[in-house]
Amino acid sequence: MKKCAVIGSINMDMVLSVPRFPAAGETLTGGNFQTVPGGKGANQAVALGRLGAPVRMAGRVGDDAFGRRYLDHFRKNGVDVRAVDAVAGTATGVADILVNAAGENCIVIAPGANGLCDLEWLDRALEATADCEIFLLQLEIPLDTVAEAVRRLRKMGKTILLDPAPAVPLPEDVLSAVDFLTPNETELKAVTSGLPEDAGIEERVRHLVGGSGRVVVHKRGADGAYIGTRDGIEHVPGFSVRAVDTTAAGDTFNAGLAAGLAMGWPLRDAVRLANAAGALAVTAYGAQEGMPSLEQAQALMARG
Ligand code: RIB
Repeated sequence: MKKCAVIGSINMDMVLSVPRFPAAGETLTGGNFQTVPGGKGANQAVALGRLGAPVRMAGRVGDDAFGRRYLDHFRKNGVDVRAVDAVAGTATGVADILVNAAGENCIVIAPGANGLCDLEWLDRALEATADCEIFLLQLEIPLDTVAEAVRRLRKMGKTILLDPAPAVPLPEDVLSAVDFLTPNETELKAVTSGLPEDAGIEERVRHLVGGSGRVVVHKRGADGAYIGTRDGIEHVPGFSVRAVDTTAAGDTFNAGLAAGLAMGWPLRDAVRLANAAGALAVTAYGAQEGMPSLEQAQALMARG
């Protein structure tokens, strides 16, 4: 099985359930409150670990209690932490998350140590992950660092999965260096912002694939995913589950896709695994609580 590396963010999530999202200036009484591990990069690493894939995290935490708790959490979930360092005098990244009764969320992030993943740090991170083959990146560490990482990984001949989240327009040379791009609906619009506002999904996916060998896997939550390649666009249906909290569904989807690729599965099967893993992730409260093992994801796939 191929070794995976995640280069990205590590957050502690402060999750508060609310009956609905408050309006500006309004005070609401919420319900359950928890402090749980999150962050797009770390979520993808932990989801890979749960799926049984060999995975190494490259990121930064603060020299605080959250950072220490996270390192321990990574280890317990099978994530290799040799490329995670603790930055002196800095706080671990934090995300304030409201989850409404429909399981939807609103997130505000204080990046902390994630914001210090600069180009000097990247040199060390790439050295410490040089033996990995499949790389997962997102956009919660500085964009310059992600862009440079993609360019350098391309030169190193690595397989690159970029989750363009949170949504921002991306430099053209970065997009063209990626092997797998996995936008959701908002991110798909952001990375094809040059197209007319009323352009449809298929037009946007086709535009991203262009004449390249790049694969676009457009995540659609309960509706599954669209795979776009040079050969055309294919819909892979999703799985129906009861959503409790959709936080990190996309992160778990990416991990499922990478795990499938790491095991050498055909692309469509890897996307089915991604759909199943993402679906199971939303059945529990908090970013990582519902992330499945490979057996649990395969059981859902077998149910159809
Ligand atoms: O993708 C979900 C993640 O986004 C949360 O865990 C939160 O930390 C934010 O980074």
